[in-house]
Amino acid sequence: MSNEKNLENMADLVSLCKRRGFIFQSSEIYGGLGSCWDYGPLGIELKNNVKNTWWKAMTFRSDVEGLDASILMSPLVWKASGHIDNFTDPLVDCKECKARFRADKIELDAPCPNCKAEDSFTEPREFNLMFETHMGPVKGSGAEVYLRPETAQGIFVNFLNVQSTMRKKLPFGIAQIGKAFRNEITPGNFIFRTREFEQMEMQYFVKPGEQKKFMDEGKEIRYQWHLDNGIRKENLRFHPHGPDELAHYADAAEDIEYKFPIGWDEMEGIHSRTDFDLKQHAELSGKNLNYVDQADGNKKYLPYVIETSVGCDRHLLALLCDAYRLENEGTKEERTVLKFKPHIAPVKIAVMPLMKKPQLEECATNILNELQKNYKCEYDVSGSIGKRYRRQDEIGTPLCITVDFDSLEDNAVTIRDRDSMKQERIEISKIGQYVREQLGF
Ligand code: GAP
Repeated sequence: MSNEKNLENMADLVSLCKRRGFIFQSSEIYGGLGSCWDYGPLGIELKNNVKNTWWKAMTFRSDVEGLDASILMSPLVWKASGHIDNFTDPLVDCKECKARFRADKIELDAPCPNCKAEDSFTEPREFNLMFETHMGPVKGSGAEVYLRPETAQGIFVNFLNVQSTMRKKLPFGIAQIGKAFRNEITPGNFIFRTREFEQMEMQYFVKPGEQKKFMDEGKEIRYQWHLDNGIRKENLRFHPHGPDELAHYADAAEDIEYKFPIGWDEMEGIHSRTDFDLKQHAELSGKNLNYVDQADGNKKYLPYVIETSVGCDRHLLALLCDAYRLENEGTKEERTVLKFKPHIAPVKIAVMPLMKKPQLEECATNILNELQKNYKCEYDVSGSIGKRYRRQDEIGTPLCITVDFDSLEDNAVTIRDRDSMKQERIEISKIGQYVREQLGF
């Protein structure tokens, strides 16, 4: 396509998402709640598509089982995992304007970035990022629980339950999708960093010594998944953690980074976590979490773990950024298109009677009812056909079907392809087959 521009500015995407019903600010009528977002009708379709493709890729294999652990867990879980003691950011306050900053993100001997006061910062203090709440009716010591800051610990504490009930042998994995909460100090950039988000994590349990092989395998599988969802190769790269970045429990870690309009940043983490988590939980709970390796003389040991952890919202943001195109800017052919792959697109097919006429509407409704047995469709009857096409382009609908007066004579419709804008005349009886071929499912 001639004269095609990628997304350059996050604000353009935020505006499209609001305008077209993808993502709204949380509690908007009350002025909004910082860094919390609501997924609208199209956003939830997109999100479900992301989760479904991840779930299928990660659990439709005989060596991986699924799990849905509760968000609230025993506070001892977070003691064992190190989150109570170490999941902190260093904070400073400006004594003049009371603004709060992460000490590792600003220069402490420079003026306050907010009010420009000199020498105004307090000493750095450690601030725990977990949200605390209370269980039961009585507030007070002993009743504190936390909203989980990662889904991973629900998997570690269920390691033996899953292994024994499903009779798994190493190597095997446990996968989970769920909400996580972090009281981030510097959230922002739309849904890139929020205080409530969803993670899609898989912990793969392996024999100690074999972690490198499975780390390499995990990297390859996860990289390919991002490509399969339509992210362009030139916008993806690995970032291996150097010794200064590596978490104390990991013997290797790499991020898959995406080139967001704000620059390259982490989309997914792949971590070789050793036996740190299982060891900590075994110690604090006093429970024996050993795996008995029948393939190796009934040796007992704690497996090592390769973790792949991707933010559902962050991958979704990358998909939106990558799909966004502005074509023929400033001309009368200008259009904004989300070039989603069909399995990612929130709406697969739009069905449009050319005009509001009973016979056209009846024919279009029959086609719609047939198609929406299998596909998420939209029915649109208002405005010029050109405007309706533009709206579908902007939400990324791969196919538009138009019923016109000829359809009543020749029993055929016009099907328009989003990317090429080519139109084909297809017999109504062959729509199902045509759509299946075009969408690929
Ligand atoms: N269990 C490992 C773990 O939680 P992480 O690197 O802290 O690792 C994994 O998080 C992924 O979760 C990140 O790569 C990112 O996609 C997503 N994520 C983390 N914090 C987030 C936040 N505040 N908002 C949105 N997504 C976040």
